[in-house]
Amino acid sequence: MKRITVIGTGYLGAVHAASLASLGYEVLGMDVDAEKIAALAAGRPPFFEPGFDELLSEQVASGRLTFTNSYADVAAFGGDDRANTVHFVCVNTPQRKGEYAADTAYIDSVIDNLAPLLDVPTLVIGKSTVPAGTAARLTSRLRALSPAGDEMRLAWNPEFLREGYAIEDTLRPDRLVIGVQDEESEAALRDVYKPLTDTGIPLLVTDLATSELVKAAANAFLSTKISFINAMAEVCEAAGADVMLLSKALSFDPRIGGRFLVPGLGFGGGCLPKDIRAFMARAGELGADQALAFLKEVDAINMRRRARTIDLAREQCNGSFLGKRIAVWGAAFKPDTDDVRDSPALNVAASILLQGAQVTVYDPKANDTAAKNFPTLNYADSALEAARGANLILHLTEWREFRELDPNAVAEVVAERRVLDGRNALDSDLWRAAGFIYRALGRPSAV
Ligand code: UDX
Repeated sequence: MKRITVIGTGYLGAVHAASLASLGYEVLGMDVDAEKIAALAAGRPPFFEPGFDELLSEQVASGRLTFTNSYADVAAFGGDDRANTVHFVCVNTPQRKGEYAADTAYIDSVIDNLAPLLDVPTLVIGKSTVPAGTAARLTSRLRALSPAGDEMRLAWNPEFLREGYAIEDTLRPDRLVIGVQDEESEAALRDVYKPLTDTGIPLLVTDLATSELVKAAANAFLSTKISFINAMAEVCEAAGADVMLLSKALSFDPRIGGRFLVPGLGFGGGCLPKDIRAFMARAGELGADQALAFLKEVDAINMRRRARTIDLAREQCNGSFLGKRIAVWGAAFKPDTDDVRDSPALNVAASILLQGAQVTVYDPKANDTAAKNFPTLNYADSALEAARGANLILHLTEWREFRELDPNAVAEVVAERRVLDGRNALDSDLWRAAGFIYRALGRPSAV
């Protein structure tokens, strides 16, 4: 039975580690953040992800899942059999400050710290999203720094998990992609993922560069699909048409499909926005910038959605936010997570605050993470509390809880019955029946 280490225990690494432990492997999770490691080791998730609480405590209790903040422990994991331990690297690759390109400093630092301690030929597998060519560069670095030299192996295994479905996507992914340079690495990875491939999950073997590009291309496609429907929303608004009906009609065509075709405030999060920018930057370096010029437009359409939401909200406030009380429902970049990285909801909330409104935010799980980043916004403990005395409610992250609220109960507490549905997810008929002026992006005011 394989031993596995997972370096970097964020949303991706922590879930990967616990999921692999649930398959029966002995797993060591490592992070330089001592606080995070202490929480994980005690079976306490440092972030919210559905099902992760139970999975983590089960796997920690089983003894198969342990944590450390020492690279020496990682390198020594497996003792005399450590050559058979495989090391997954799951650290993040944020956008570089003031640039489009990805910052690979964290992943470089993992190799720099770990390689000198790997004294027997070992397999290191990158999972982070990286610019094409990074894996080849890291292979040289790994070999140069490790006492095992050219016998060190590096593979790439991009991760496609969505937050909110991270466990499901890890244990039942649509596909596995492994970029390898030798048969031994392929065999080791096939072995790790055998419990998954045995259930029929396809595993594709590629070269390193292709495996890196699969991830970038997937995120570029998904972003393009969202911005496509949001561009249609702009045209619908101009033509007096209804983008929700348009999207539904398109979705019956199996070549198009309905997923990622929901118009609204657009995409955010720690992946799609920065990944399409990093992809453009890398294509530019490779001399293929024209090929991805369209992603600039995808990005621009997406950012315009935030501006349009603010404009529509201002219209609802008779042209000025000054002295208005605005309730913002949702702070996470999407439902079922407490992640607020590049959250469209918070971007809108903060802009409106700066334009003179009093803004009260409520999110079922992300109030704390939001308050750390935007301490000047007010935070409420419930949707109704946020709505109390409001001149306008902005529905900006489509949590189920908001759909299930009774608009009649909300009508009792607001100052004015106005709601702007930034996610096209509320039942407009119900809200109108409760006396609200309901507005949504890409839809005529009467729909
Ligand atoms: C994404 C990719 O889906 C995943 O494969 C990759 O590994 C990481 O990036 P994630 O960031 O967790 O995952 O969120 P995702 O579910 O893709 O949603 C991204 C954003 O798009 C969210 O802000 C969401 O609200 C928005 N979105 C999604 C839309 O605006 N409309 C849609 O139809 C779908």
